[in-house]
Amino acid sequence: MTDLVTDVLRQHAEDAFAAELAALAARDDRPRPERWRLSPWAVATYLLGGELDDGTVITPKYIGPRRVVEVAVTTLATDRALLLLGVPGTAKTWVSEHLAAAISGDSTLLVQGTAGTPEEAVRYGWNYARLLTDGPSREALVPSPLMRAMADGRIARVEELTRIPADVQDSLITILSEKTLPIPELGTETQAVRGFNVIATANDRDRGVNELSSALRRRFNTVVLPLPGSLEEEVDIVTRRVEQLGRSLQLPELPGGAQEIRRVVTVFRELRAGLTADGRTKVKTPSGTLSTAEAISVVTNGMALAAHFGDGVLRAGDVAAGVIGAVVRDPAADQQVWREYVEGVVRERDGWQDFYRAARENAR
Ligand SMILES: Nc1ncnc2c1ncn2[C@@H]1O[C@H](COP(=O)(O)OP(=O)(O)OP(=O)(O)O)[C@@H](O)[C@H]1O
Ligand SMILES: [Mg+2]
Repeated sequence: MTDLVTDVLRQHAEDAFAAELAALAARDDRPRPERWRLSPWAVATYLLGGELDDGTVITPKYIGPRRVVEVAVTTLATDRALLLLGVPGTAKTWVSEHLAAAISGDSTLLVQGTAGTPEEAVRYGWNYARLLTDGPSREALVPSPLMRAMADGRIARVEELTRIPADVQDSLITILSEKTLPIPELGTETQAVRGFNVIATANDRDRGVNELSSALRRRFNTVVLPLPGSLEEEVDIVTRRVEQLGRSLQLPELPGGAQEIRRVVTVFRELRAGLTADGRTKVKTPSGTLSTAEAISVVTNGMALAAHFGDGVLRAGDVAAGVIGAVVRDPAADQQVWREYVEGVVRERDGWQDFYRAARENAR
């Protein structure tokens, strides 16, 4: 555990929301699985938000179907692990962090999956200086985050599971099915204690990079995180996150924010769907994902531009460059898609003349 430092750039969920977690724990009289800090009900409330009977407000972390969260939390109380699947920017990492924070009070037992993730990152490694002086011993062994989670009965997180090479993925099978991690060098093992489980995330678009073996897939219950269902829902997500990020970046609150958020989300949704919101005009779809996460960063960047170089109001010109950057990934094809959208849709739209002008200026 690290000391609580308040000026770190990004606090862990368990630190940032320590007060909410403590309030929930104090109120929570439902049964808790062994070593869980909260009952499944309280974990779901922490994620979805709500008001406790003493008036404490729990802010929503995840905005989306309640059932998705309920199934995810319930899975972690069973002997199957949880796989959060979805297109980029659907809050897989975010939900995984908050689940681990609420259940174990610790979201830092994390293995980042990449094409180069070695087996040591999943199992254990050695402190070579000690290994040379003392030979193999418990003291020379460097446990992976997973091994620590097993020993302590906590939640471990594996990010981007499908990017991990297949043979390294396979070392997860023993952990998840036998709930033990053999250490042949010492003739011993680390057995998982109650409370241990794994949350993995994987990106829909990575499918086929390293397909999960069916043996491993069977150890997971897969929960798909959907894209926001409606414009209102997505505007709500972006508004909340921009507000939180703005606070931690110490940006002032700016008028004009609500209008530009709605505009960015509208553009993203229309281009994603290939259809305008009124259902009348077909538009071409660009190559990028245009995720909610990208909408959040476009607006946050716009806020910073407006705060430092603007007139104190968030304007179309502050977000236009960011929108174009998100849409135009492939300079040739996407440029054409964007131009058609600007001329065919934005130009005619009531109240969008400022955005039209900004889009044209930035395109040059
Ligand atoms: N439904 C949602 N509710 C709350 N926040 C959301 C939602 N969708 C996206 N976000 C926000 O989007 C941001 C990005 O989410 P995150 O990084 O978890 O996405 P991801 O699914 O892991 O993406 P990737 O596949 O690229 O890793 C987070 O700041 C998160 O708060
Ligand atoms: Mg992620």
